[in-house]
Amino acid sequence: MSIRFDNKVALVTGGAMGIGLATARKFAELGAKVAILDRDPRAGEKAAKTISASGPEAQFVECDVSDEASVMRSVNAVGEKFNGIDVLISNAGIQRYGDVIGTSEELWDEVMGVNLKGCFHVAKAALPLMISRGGGAIVVVASVQTFTAVGNSAAYVTAKHALLGLVRAMSLDYASKNIRVNCVCPGAIDTPMLRWAASLDAHPEKVIETCNRMHPLGRIGRPEEVANAIAFLASDWASFITGTALLVDGGMLAPTGGMGFQEGGTGAATKS
Ligand code: NAI
Repeated sequence: MSIRFDNKVALVTGGAMGIGLATARKFAELGAKVAILDRDPRAGEKAAKTISASGPEAQFVECDVSDEASVMRSVNAVGEKFNGIDVLISNAGIQRYGDVIGTSEELWDEVMGVNLKGCFHVAKAALPLMISRGGGAIVVVASVQTFTAVGNSAAYVTAKHALLGLVRAMSLDYASKNIRVNCVCPGAIDTPMLRWAASLDAHPEKVIETCNRMHPLGRIGRPEEVANAIAFLASDWASFITGTALLVDGGMLAPTGGMGFQEGGTGAATKS
């Protein structure tokens, strides 16, 4: 059995670039019709056009996932065009910085609105369409920050932690409808978001170097590597997997105390 999504419809939020774009491409490559929902019409149209040129039909719909009316409108448009939805990839997200004192209510709401409420909105709109197709799969793009925190990112870390709660809740509520719900938790992945975050530093290349070293595999990940994990979780190969989180982090969360502690010597090395 190989992983295929022929005759299936996959909806990807934030599919115009980064992990979402790689995921939209992957699902098209595996036979799915793909709907890209994104707030960036220029990049979104371009992505859909490129994908349709070499594979199954792809559609772009402009959407702000933090806005319920926008989500309802665009998800229903996809449902009408493709006669339902089989796979939902809730990926759209934004990175913003600040500790609690330094986070305005506006910034908090912006991060929660896109990263957490956006997932709720999209799932709420897509679930009835998935149920009417007899089931399907939802994959949420969370983060290593679902389990750990980095400083100065209070809202982002909180939203990513909360997503696992939403994944587990949905996995219980829709198991009887034949819908599995899981999330992937990437380490640092080479996308426009990561490059933007690095560009805030005076030495962006040093930031990327540090990110490389944070992973036992010695490098940051590629968007395609996250897309592969998403495709696995959405496929029949994962037919008994629901309510869980899959780390796609090059081993980042494996070392006690992080890679710095490993490199500094843990006292556990065997003397030769
Ligand atoms: P990106 O910034 O490269 O791409 C994000 C896409 O989402 C863009 O196309 C953007 O237009 C779209 N988007 C943003 N806000 C939106 C909104 N309100 N409505 C609709 N679309 C919206 O980001 P990247 O890196 O591909 O991240 C994708 C997901 O992966 C995010 O949820 C992010 O938090 C998560 N992630 C990324 C990591 C990384 O190192 N790049 C690591 C761990 C998680």
